[in-house]
Amino acid sequence: MCGIVGYIGPKSVSSVLLVGLQKLEYRGYDSAGIAIMDKSELSIQKNKGKIAGLVDIVNKRPMPGNLGIGHTRWATHGEPSKVNSHPHTNSSGTIAVVQNGIVENYMELKNELMDDGFIFSSETDTEVIPHLFEKYLKENFRPEVAFLRVLKRIEGKFAIALVSEKVPEKIFFAKNGAPLILAIGKDEDNQQKENFLASDLPALVPLAKKAYYLKDKECGFISQGTVVLSDFEGNLKEPNFEKILMKSDDIEKGEFEHYMLKEIYEQPDMIERILSHRINENKHIIFNELKLERDYLARIGRIVIQASGTSLHAGYNGKNFFEQFVKVFADADYSSEFRYRNPVVAGDSMVIAISQSGETADTLASLHEAKSKFIKVLSFVNNMNSTMARESDAVIDLLAGPEIGVASTKAYTAELLNLFLFALYLSSIKWILPKEDRIQLLDEIYTLPEKMRKILRNHERLKEIGAFLNTVNDTIFLGRTYNFPTALEGALKLKEISYIHASGYAGGEFKHGPIALVSEKVPVIAIVPQSEIRTKMISNIQEVKARNGKIISIITEGDQEVKDLSDYYFEIPPVAEPLSPLLTILPLQLISYYTALYRGCDVDQPRNLAKSVTVE
Ligand code: M6R
Repeated sequence: MCGIVGYIGPKSVSSVLLVGLQKLEYRGYDSAGIAIMDKSELSIQKNKGKIAGLVDIVNKRPMPGNLGIGHTRWATHGEPSKVNSHPHTNSSGTIAVVQNGIVENYMELKNELMDDGFIFSSETDTEVIPHLFEKYLKENFRPEVAFLRVLKRIEGKFAIALVSEKVPEKIFFAKNGAPLILAIGKDEDNQQKENFLASDLPALVPLAKKAYYLKDKECGFISQGTVVLSDFEGNLKEPNFEKILMKSDDIEKGEFEHYMLKEIYEQPDMIERILSHRINENKHIIFNELKLERDYLARIGRIVIQASGTSLHAGYNGKNFFEQFVKVFADADYSSEFRYRNPVVAGDSMVIAISQSGETADTLASLHEAKSKFIKVLSFVNNMNSTMARESDAVIDLLAGPEIGVASTKAYTAELLNLFLFALYLSSIKWILPKEDRIQLLDEIYTLPEKMRKILRNHERLKEIGAFLNTVNDTIFLGRTYNFPTALEGALKLKEISYIHASGYAGGEFKHGPIALVSEKVPVIAIVPQSEIRTKMISNIQEVKARNGKIISIITEGDQEVKDLSDYYFEIPPVAEPLSPLLTILPLQLISYYTALYRGCDVDQPRNLAKSVTVE
């Protein structure tokens, strides 16, 4: 949520900042702005809307300079507008600040500063920071000390960058709860003396070579070729820079029109890559990064899964996998509910947190809640440098590769596959599932990439369904057991990017209320692969047909009975029931994509959303 960048070095500062911001645009796109120091004079440009608008402005009125900071916003306090855009400044415009996060005590600070005569121009929480910094400068504190004093006063989760004409050679930074990375330039010894700041790695690739992932309550400043790092008390620390492994290709759209489409099409290769990491030549499942004792794993009696959004939908199938293959009690819950419910978790419980970003505020909070109850937390994350990865007792890498599209696609199937493999791994530790059954399931897993490719090759038929959905305003998704989460996820995808209302229900629940919605104008998308409860899904379909409802079905190849009942259908190759969600979701991702295109929606940057939700 919100992206920040900073740069000091010989390149064009405005270009580095603008390109970096474009790479972070998935974090928010309500407004954008940059502040650039030219010798000792600060200039600022900001604009409501996407970064392209800011690029036009800067092209018309170039901003030379030696260092600068930038921001792309997802609005929390104050509507998206030019005045509420970052950077925020003090009244004389000599101090500029960008922030990702929330200053929770801003009202109290704002009142105090207004009593002292400071004049505010925006509705944001961030604006208290430049005024507070100015206040401490006026009280004759050195800028470095003034910055530490600001950090002592503000409460909340944030990442900040600040520049001031008083110290025109420095960019101050601080992190507490929101991600922030320091980086140095491409040449080995940083002889070009380039330093960078960014909320996330994509802004740094391909310009930076090494990165340091700031920890909470770390702060400091960068000047040309120098990094000074300390804790919030001012005690100096040494940053350990690591080589950046992400490649430019990983974060470019390539031949695809949208990141979402690229990421949908990456899924077969991704599954192959994950399998090559997770299964060795003896058909043993391996989780090399998992630092948990086998004895501990063998004793687990209950698994509580925590996640939000798409990751929670994968978690619902995690629950199914653990109950089915490990025979332990498992539950999956919204992180935002778990954290406030004061949940009962017994000593033999393990909490599993699932998060693509590893930064979702609600999921992080539920991780803290579990740890406060002395329960071990195992995180499944797609970013091994994320806060969640660092704060968990153990981590499993989703290995999905960078996901840029705001609507999550490949991270979902990576979550499903890793949860499935982890369930089989636990089941072998606990001696639950007979070896032959495990091997049979593993053999089946290896067929997934080809089956996925076949689905993607048949995409034309899904365009037709997208064209039909473009004519409606409400939809219902139905699935049972392993495909009840698919119904939830399919509905989420459709509403996120095409703004069509969509609700997912368990097929059995349909008659308990939602059936009242059925009409010619409210189609039902029924997920009906070959399974033990296929006939129950057929009953749901009959109920819809009896009420003149339209049916779009996702079926197993050759299922003539359901074909005959459907207005539109899409066939997937046959697959073992527990693995079916890895296939049934693909047509639903593509249907959402095509519907959004027909509606003229911005697929990669849907309205009101941001990729990484780092506020509550
Ligand atoms: O990074 P996370 O997996 O923790 O994110 C959780 C949700 O915010 C995320 O899945 C969201 O629902 C996506 N927009 C879904 O497409």
